[in-house]
Amino acid sequence: MTSSTFDRESTLELLRFSEDLPSLPDRFVKIQNIAQDPDSNAKDLAEVIRSDQATTVMILKFANSPAYNASHTSISELSKAIARLGTKETVHIATAMSLMYGMILPTGMANIRIFWSHAFAVALVAEHLAKTADPAQQHGSHEVAFMAGLLHDIGRAALGMRVDFSYFECETGHLHEDDLIKAEEEHYGVNHAEAGMHLLRLWGFPNELCEAVAEHHLADSPTFLARVCYLSNQFINAHLPERTAFDNVADIVFEKLESSPPDISILNA
Ligand SMILES: [Fe+2]
Ligand SMILES: [Fe+2]
Repeated sequence: MTSSTFDRESTLELLRFSEDLPSLPDRFVKIQNIAQDPDSNAKDLAEVIRSDQATTVMILKFANSPAYNASHTSISELSKAIARLGTKETVHIATAMSLMYGMILPTGMANIRIFWSHAFAVALVAEHLAKTADPAQQHGSHEVAFMAGLLHDIGRAALGMRVDFSYFECETGHLHEDDLIKAEEEHYGVNHAEAGMHLLRLWGFPNELCEAVAEHHLADSPTFLARVCYLSNQFINAHLPERTAFDNVADIVFEKLESSPPDISILNA
């Protein structure tokens, strides 16, 4: 890697987002509001999804994919697709889509799809592991585990959007795990886990989620949710081919969780 023009202080300065804080996409906020409103129903959800063609198409693709279509009958109506997936899965897919299309990542569409397919896959695994290791939700809700998985690498977006527009194109855009953390610390003085925590705090996410994201590369984090993210990320890096299309993610994740279930002993430590 070439010598860096960044250091910890200048990176943190850029990450403070004081004047032009990148906002959460409107669609993300709308979908979360519907999900959290006990008075809302599937019709409200269909309405917000229908206003975006890419999300509508994606919901139909998921509903017709092997993971959700045991009866092998194809459907082409959004309301039926939502009924088949269930409200929760529909919200999850629409939430991931709202981030994929609503956050301006300074890189090509292929890299953006790779980034969000990975995030969505880690989210599905995180929710599954939280349900398996903590069925009574003593360490937090399974929904927060999904969201922590979806947002675990958001610091990479923060570095790309706020610190270095060439982040996704230079070496750091193609490294994984410890190599990535090491390269980021050498180059920016801050790694993406810490950068993600800063952004999520500014967006007002709950503390438990921010902490989990900050420590998602630590296998021995004292935080249960961080260990869930760590294990989910490892599992996906080992099992999901890098260029998996977004609509194939659930099929592959569910199949791999069944055929090679991860060792969850670190979650009960
Ligand atoms: Fe990461
Ligand atoms: Fe990751």
